[in-house]
Amino acid sequence: MTGALRRVTVAPPAKINLSLRVLDRRADGYHELRTVFQTISLTDRLSIEFRPGRGQRVELESSLDIPAQDNLVVRAAQAVMAAAAIRGHVRFRLEKRIPAGGGLGGGSSDAAAVLLALPALAGRRLELDVLTGLAAGLGSDVPFFLLGGTAMGLGRGTEVYPLPDLPRLPGLLVLPAVSLSTAEAYRALDELTPPSATCHTKGFHVLTWCMGHGLTPDNWSRLGANDFEPYAFERYPELGRIVRRLRRCGASPAMMSGSGSSLFGLFRNREDAERARASFRGLRCESFYLVSRGRYRKAWWQSLMGHLQGGEEWPPRSRYVR
Ligand code: C5P
Repeated sequence: MTGALRRVTVAPPAKINLSLRVLDRRADGYHELRTVFQTISLTDRLSIEFRPGRGQRVELESSLDIPAQDNLVVRAAQAVMAAAAIRGHVRFRLEKRIPAGGGLGGGSSDAAAVLLALPALAGRRLELDVLTGLAAGLGSDVPFFLLGGTAMGLGRGTEVYPLPDLPRLPGLLVLPAVSLSTAEAYRALDELTPPSATCHTKGFHVLTWCMGHGLTPDNWSRLGANDFEPYAFERYPELGRIVRRLRRCGASPAMMSGSGSSLFGLFRNREDAERARASFRGLRCESFYLVSRGRYRKAWWQSLMGHLQGGEEWPPRSRYVR
Protein backbone atom coordinates (compact mmCIF):
# COMPACT_ATOMS: atom_id res chain seq x y z
CA MET A 1 0.00 0.00 0.00
CA THR A 2 1.46 3.41 -0.95
CA GLY A 3 0.17 6.98 -0.53
CA ALA A 4 0.40 10.18 -2.55
CA LEU A 5 3.82 11.60 -3.37
CA ARG A 6 4.80 14.72 -1.37
CA ARG A 7 7.76 16.85 -2.31
CA VAL A 8 9.61 19.97 -1.27
CA THR A 9 12.84 21.76 -2.23
CA VAL A 10 14.74 23.53 0.54
CA ALA A 11 17.90 25.66 0.65
CA PRO A 12 19.98 24.75 3.73
CA PRO A 13 22.33 27.66 4.54
CA ALA A 14 25.99 27.67 5.54
CA LYS A 15 27.21 29.04 8.89
CA ILE A 16 30.23 31.00 9.96
CA ASN A 17 31.64 31.17 13.50
CA LEU A 18 31.95 34.77 14.71
CA SER A 19 34.09 33.38 17.54
CA LEU A 20 35.31 29.85 18.27
CA ARG A 21 37.12 29.25 21.54
CA VAL A 22 38.26 25.71 22.27
CA LEU A 23 38.64 24.83 25.95
CA ASP A 24 39.60 21.48 27.45
CA ARG A 25 39.22 17.99 26.05
CA ARG A 26 36.34 16.35 27.91
CA ALA A 27 35.94 12.84 29.30
CA ASP A 28 33.80 11.92 26.22
CA GLY A 29 36.69 12.87 23.88
CA TYR A 30 35.00 16.04 22.57
CA HIS A 31 36.24 19.53 23.39
CA GLU A 32 34.34 22.06 25.44
CA LEU A 33 33.51 25.00 23.16
CA ARG A 34 32.40 28.60 23.41
CA THR A 35 31.24 29.72 19.98
CA VAL A 36 28.91 32.12 18.19
CA PHE A 37 27.22 30.64 15.13
CA GLN A 38 25.72 32.74 12.34
CA THR A 39 23.70 31.59 9.30
CA ILE A 40 24.64 33.16 5.94
CA SER A 41 22.97 33.32 2.54
CA LEU A 42 25.21 30.75 0.77
CA THR A 43 23.03 27.63 0.48
CA ASP A 44 22.89 24.06 -0.79
CA ARG A 45 19.76 22.85 -2.60
CA LEU A 46 17.99 19.75 -1.34
CA SER A 47 14.91 18.22 -3.04
CA ILE A 48 12.99 15.73 -0.94
CA GLU A 49 10.30 13.35 -2.24
CA PHE A 50 8.35 11.24 0.21
CA ARG A 51 5.85 8.51 -0.67
CA PRO A 52 4.20 6.82 2.33
CA GLY A 53 4.32 3.04 2.18
CA ARG A 54 5.58 -0.09 3.85
CA GLY A 55 9.17 -0.30 5.08
CA GLN A 56 11.79 2.43 5.09
CA ARG A 57 13.74 3.14 1.92
CA VAL A 58 16.13 6.10 1.51
CA GLU A 59 17.86 7.04 -1.76
CA LEU A 60 20.23 9.91 -2.45
CA GLU A 61 21.49 11.46 -5.65
CA SER A 62 24.26 13.92 -4.82
CA SER A 63 26.93 16.01 -6.49
CA LEU A 64 29.16 15.07 -3.51
CA ASP A 65 31.34 12.06 -4.20
CA ILE A 66 30.99 10.04 -0.97
CA PRO A 67 29.04 6.77 -0.35
CA ALA A 68 25.32 7.53 0.26
CA GLN A 69 25.32 5.71 3.64
CA ASP A 70 28.05 8.11 4.89
CA ASN A 71 26.14 11.21 3.84
CA LEU A 72 24.57 13.04 6.80
CA VAL A 73 21.37 13.50 4.74
CA VAL A 74 20.80 9.73 4.63
CA ARG A 75 21.80 9.29 8.28
CA ALA A 76 19.43 12.10 9.33
CA ALA A 77 16.57 10.50 7.36
CA GLN A 78 17.17 7.11 8.97
CA ALA A 79 17.32 8.68 12.45
CA VAL A 80 14.15 10.75 12.09
CA MET A 81 12.18 7.95 10.38
CA ALA A 82 13.04 5.60 13.27
CA ALA A 83 12.20 8.24 15.94
CA ALA A 84 8.85 9.27 14.39
CA ALA A 85 7.89 5.80 13.04
CA ILE A 86 7.77 7.20 9.48
CA ARG A 87 7.31 4.47 6.84
CA GLY A 88 7.76 4.96 3.12
CA HIS A 89 10.18 5.77 0.36
CA VAL A 90 12.35 8.93 0.55
CA ARG A 91 14.37 10.25 -2.39
CA PHE A 92 16.81 13.09 -2.01
CA ARG A 93 18.56 15.13 -4.68
CA LEU A 94 21.37 17.19 -3.16
CA GLU A 95 23.09 19.97 -5.09
CA LYS A 96 26.16 21.08 -3.12
CA ARG A 97 27.10 24.76 -3.32
CA ILE A 98 28.61 25.03 0.16
CA PRO A 99 32.14 23.62 -0.12
CA ALA A 100 32.56 20.43 1.91
CA GLY A 101 35.32 20.44 4.54
CA GLY A 102 35.49 24.24 4.67
CA GLY A 103 34.24 24.82 8.24
CA LEU A 104 30.92 26.15 6.90
CA GLY A 105 28.65 23.42 8.29
CA GLY A 106 27.12 22.48 4.92
CA GLY A 107 26.67 18.79 5.75
CA SER A 108 25.25 19.68 9.18
CA SER A 109 22.78 22.14 7.65
CA ASP A 110 21.63 19.53 5.10
CA ALA A 111 21.09 17.06 7.96
CA ALA A 112 19.08 19.57 10.02
CA ALA A 113 16.97 20.32 6.92
CA VAL A 114 16.03 16.63 6.72
CA LEU A 115 15.12 16.56 10.44
CA LEU A 116 12.82 19.57 9.90
CA ALA A 117 11.29 18.71 6.52
CA LEU A 118 10.73 14.96 6.59
CA PRO A 119 8.36 14.86 9.60
CA ALA A 120 6.37 17.73 8.03
CA LEU A 121 6.06 15.83 4.70
CA ALA A 122 5.04 12.68 6.60
CA GLY A 123 2.47 14.53 8.75
CA ARG A 124 4.37 13.79 11.98
CA ARG A 125 5.38 16.24 14.70
CA LEU A 126 8.41 15.98 16.96
CA GLU A 127 9.17 18.28 19.90
CA LEU A 128 12.26 20.47 19.59
CA ASP A 129 14.08 18.60 22.38
CA VAL A 130 13.62 15.29 20.50
CA LEU A 131 14.87 16.89 17.26
CA THR A 132 17.81 18.42 19.15
CA GLY A 133 18.76 14.99 20.54
CA LEU A 134 18.69 13.49 17.03
CA ALA A 135 20.67 16.46 15.69
CA ALA A 136 23.40 16.13 18.36
CA GLY A 137 23.71 12.43 17.50
CA LEU A 138 24.51 13.40 13.90
CA GLY A 139 27.17 16.07 14.60
CA SER A 140 28.14 18.91 16.91
CA ASP A 141 26.98 21.68 14.51
CA VAL A 142 23.61 20.14 13.58
CA PRO A 143 21.46 21.44 16.54
CA PHE A 144 22.33 25.07 15.66
CA PHE A 145 20.61 24.67 12.28
CA LEU A 146 17.31 23.86 14.00
CA LEU A 147 17.43 27.47 15.23
CA GLY A 148 19.44 29.56 12.72
CA GLY A 149 20.27 33.28 12.95
CA THR A 150 22.88 34.31 15.55
CA ALA A 151 23.34 31.87 18.44
CA MET A 152 25.76 31.02 21.19
CA GLY A 153 26.99 27.39 21.20
CA LEU A 154 28.24 25.83 24.45
CA GLY A 155 29.24 22.32 25.55
CA ARG A 156 30.48 20.42 22.50
CA GLY A 157 28.61 23.04 20.44
CA THR A 158 25.24 21.29 20.73
CA GLU A 159 23.78 23.55 23.47
CA VAL A 160 22.54 26.53 21.49
CA TYR A 161 21.06 29.76 22.81
CA PRO A 162 19.62 32.48 20.56
CA LEU A 163 21.26 35.93 20.48
CA PRO A 164 19.60 39.07 19.06
CA ASP A 165 19.70 39.33 15.26
CA LEU A 166 22.56 41.26 13.68
CA PRO A 167 21.96 43.70 10.80
CA ARG A 168 21.84 42.10 7.33
CA LEU A 169 25.56 42.82 6.79
CA PRO A 170 27.32 41.86 3.55
CA GLY A 171 30.27 39.49 3.68
CA LEU A 172 32.85 37.78 1.55
CA LEU A 173 34.01 34.18 1.81
CA VAL A 174 37.40 33.24 0.40
CA LEU A 175 37.66 29.51 -0.19
CA PRO A 176 41.25 28.32 -0.71
CA ALA A 177 41.75 24.87 -2.23
CA VAL A 178 42.98 23.52 1.12
CA SER A 179 41.08 20.90 3.11
CA LEU A 180 41.64 20.65 6.87
CA SER A 181 40.39 17.63 8.85
CA THR A 182 38.34 18.71 11.88
CA ALA A 183 39.40 15.76 14.04
CA GLU A 184 43.06 16.38 13.14
CA ALA A 185 42.76 20.09 13.96
CA TYR A 186 41.38 19.28 17.44
CA ARG A 187 44.24 16.81 18.01
CA ALA A 188 46.76 19.47 16.99
CA LEU A 189 45.22 21.89 19.52
CA ASP A 190 45.70 19.30 22.29
CA GLU A 191 49.41 19.26 21.52
CA LEU A 192 49.74 23.04 21.84
CA THR A 193 49.82 24.37 25.41
CA PRO A 194 46.23 25.35 26.14
CA PRO A 195 45.84 28.97 27.25
CA SER A 196 43.92 29.36 30.49
CA ALA A 197 40.24 28.52 30.17
CA THR A 198 39.27 31.48 32.38
CA CYS A 199 40.99 33.89 30.02
CA HIS A 200 39.06 32.43 27.06
CA THR A 201 35.68 32.47 28.71
CA LYS A 202 36.18 36.03 29.98
CA GLY A 203 36.65 37.38 26.43
CA PHE A 204 33.75 35.28 25.24
CA HIS A 205 31.46 36.62 27.96
CA VAL A 206 32.24 40.21 26.94
CA LEU A 207 31.55 39.35 23.29
CA THR A 208 28.20 37.69 24.00
CA TRP A 209 27.27 40.50 26.43
CA CYS A 210 27.82 43.02 23.58
CA MET A 211 25.86 40.87 21.14
CA GLY A 212 23.11 40.26 23.71
CA HIS A 213 22.71 44.04 24.06
CA GLY A 214 22.32 44.44 20.30
CA LEU A 215 25.65 46.27 19.80
CA THR A 216 26.97 46.49 16.23
CA PRO A 217 30.17 44.69 15.04
CA ASP A 218 32.14 47.98 15.47
CA ASN A 219 31.88 47.34 19.22
CA TRP A 220 32.78 43.64 19.31
CA SER A 221 34.60 42.65 16.12
CA ARG A 222 37.97 42.51 17.94
CA LEU A 223 36.59 40.32 20.74
CA GLY A 224 35.91 37.28 18.53
CA ALA A 225 38.72 34.80 17.85
CA ASN A 226 39.15 31.39 16.28
CA ASP A 227 41.48 29.13 18.26
CA PHE A 228 42.17 26.98 15.19
CA GLU A 229 43.85 29.88 13.37
CA PRO A 230 47.39 29.53 14.81
CA TYR A 231 47.49 25.84 13.81
CA ALA A 232 45.91 26.40 10.37
CA PHE A 233 47.97 29.52 9.57
CA GLU A 234 51.21 27.81 10.51
CA ARG A 235 50.40 24.86 8.24
CA TYR A 236 49.11 27.01 5.39
CA PRO A 237 50.55 30.55 5.68
CA GLU A 238 48.44 31.71 2.72
CA LEU A 239 45.35 31.47 4.98
CA GLY A 240 46.77 34.06 7.36
CA ARG A 241 47.71 36.28 4.42
CA ILE A 242 44.11 36.16 3.14
CA VAL A 243 42.72 37.22 6.55
CA ARG A 244 45.19 40.11 6.72
CA ARG A 245 44.21 41.18 3.18
CA LEU A 246 40.50 41.03 4.11
CA ARG A 247 41.26 43.37 7.04
CA ARG A 248 43.18 45.76 4.81
CA CYS A 249 40.12 45.82 2.53
CA GLY A 250 38.03 47.02 5.49
CA ALA A 251 36.56 43.73 6.75
CA SER A 252 35.75 43.72 10.46
CA PRO A 253 35.77 41.05 11.72
CA ALA A 254 37.88 38.93 9.32
CA MET A 255 38.72 35.39 10.42
CA MET A 256 38.61 31.67 9.67
CA SER A 257 35.34 29.75 10.03
CA GLY A 258 35.17 26.53 12.08
CA SER A 259 38.26 24.35 11.73
CA GLY A 260 38.92 25.90 8.30
CA SER A 261 39.84 26.44 5.69
CA SER A 262 37.22 29.06 4.68
CA LEU A 263 38.04 32.66 5.56
CA PHE A 264 35.39 35.35 5.86
CA GLY A 265 35.10 39.08 6.31
CA LEU A 266 32.09 41.23 7.19
CA PHE A 267 31.78 44.70 5.62
CA ARG A 268 29.81 47.88 6.27
CA ASN A 269 28.32 47.91 2.78
CA ARG A 270 28.05 45.92 -0.46
CA GLU A 271 30.47 48.20 -2.35
CA ASP A 272 33.34 47.52 0.09
CA ALA A 273 32.63 43.77 -0.07
CA GLU A 274 32.65 43.82 -3.90
CA ARG A 275 35.88 45.86 -3.96
CA ALA A 276 37.50 43.28 -1.66
CA ARG A 277 36.24 40.48 -3.91
CA ALA A 278 37.96 42.06 -6.90
CA SER A 279 41.28 41.95 -5.04
CA PHE A 280 41.06 38.15 -4.61
CA ARG A 281 41.01 37.37 -8.35
CA GLY A 282 42.13 33.77 -8.99
CA LEU A 283 40.73 32.46 -5.68
CA ARG A 284 37.22 31.06 -5.25
CA CYS A 285 35.09 33.68 -3.49
CA GLU A 286 31.41 33.81 -2.51
CA SER A 287 29.56 36.99 -1.56
CA PHE A 288 26.92 36.61 1.16
CA TYR A 289 24.64 38.38 3.61
CA LEU A 290 24.02 37.46 7.24
CA VAL A 291 20.72 35.58 7.59
CA SER A 292 18.69 36.46 10.70
CA ARG A 293 16.66 33.92 12.67
CA GLY A 294 13.48 35.63 11.47
CA ARG A 295 14.46 35.18 7.82
CA TYR A 296 15.57 31.61 8.47
CA ARG A 297 12.20 30.71 10.05
CA LYS A 298 10.33 32.52 7.26
CA ALA A 299 12.23 30.56 4.59
CA TRP A 300 11.31 27.32 6.36
CA TRP A 301 7.70 28.33 6.69
CA GLN A 302 7.48 29.29 2.99
CA SER A 303 9.06 25.99 1.88
CA LEU A 304 6.81 23.83 4.03
CA MET A 305 3.54 25.78 4.26
CA GLY A 306 1.76 23.37 1.90
CA HIS A 307 2.51 20.57 4.36
CA LEU A 308 1.78 22.31 7.67
CA GLN A 309 -1.46 23.09 9.51
CA GLY A 310 -2.52 26.76 9.54
CA GLY A 311 -1.00 28.65 12.47
CA GLU A 312 1.54 25.92 13.17
CA GLU A 313 5.07 27.03 14.13
CA TRP A 314 7.87 25.46 12.13
CA PRO A 315 10.68 24.98 13.03
CA PRO A 316 9.07 24.21 16.41
CA ARG A 317 10.09 26.48 19.29
CA SER A 318 11.35 25.14 22.58
CA ARG A 319 8.53 24.47 25.04
CA TYR A 320 10.57 26.48 27.56
CA VAL A 321 10.40 29.55 25.32
CA ARG A 322 6.62 29.39 24.95
O1 C5P B 1 30.57 16.20 16.10
P1 C5P B 1 31.34 16.19 14.82
O2 C5P B 1 31.10 14.92 14.02
O3 C5P B 1 31.17 17.40 14.01
O4 C5P B 1 32.88 16.17 15.23
C1 C5P B 1 33.93 15.81 14.35
C2 C5P B 1 35.19 15.58 15.16
O5 C5P B 1 35.65 16.82 15.72
C3 C5P B 1 34.96 14.68 16.39
O6 C5P B 1 35.22 13.35 16.10
C4 C5P B 1 35.96 15.20 17.38
O7 C5P B 1 37.22 14.63 17.12
C5 C5P B 1 36.08 16.66 17.06
N1 C5P B 1 35.28 17.53 17.95
C6 C5P B 1 35.76 17.79 19.22
N2 C5P B 1 35.03 18.63 20.04
C7 C5P B 1 33.89 19.21 19.62
C8 C5P B 1 33.41 18.97 18.31
C9 C5P B 1 34.14 18.13 17.50
O8 C5P B 1 36.80 17.27 19.63
N3 C5P B 1 33.23 20.04 20.44
